[in-house]
Amino acid sequence: MPVQLNHTIVHARDKQATARHFVDVLGLDEPKPFGPFLVLELSNGVSLDVLDDSEPVPQHYAFLVTEPEFDEIFGRIQERELRYWADPFHRRRGEINHNDGGRGVYWEDPNGHSLEIITRPYGSGG
Ligand SMILES: [Fe+2]
Repeated sequence: MPVQLNHTIVHARDKQATARHFVDVLGLDEPKPFGPFLVLELSNGVSLDVLDDSEPVPQHYAFLVTEPEFDEIFGRIQERELRYWADPFHRRRGEINHNDGGRGVYWEDPNGHSLEIITRPYGSGG
């Protein structure tokens, strides 16, 4: 039986600054405090629960977005002069990719977590 991812924890040196980054760049709703977490709700029902941690281990979080959302988010990445790459190994700096016939780009949050937006799921391009 398939199951659904419900939430995961994003470890952060500063949960306020990290939640701010996710809200401002991705255009999410304001976080809701829940216990030690700042909870960010995504449109498919998954939440990212941001938690203070003095030594967060870099993780990877990828977000599926529409083409107009890609334009908005990528615009904010550029406005903020964040470094971005077309690939997860950070070899193609200042570029986006067109994998699966869509668009994708990688950047980092304040903890060094690798964030990615894609307009087509991996492998969907046939
Ligand atoms: Fe990825």
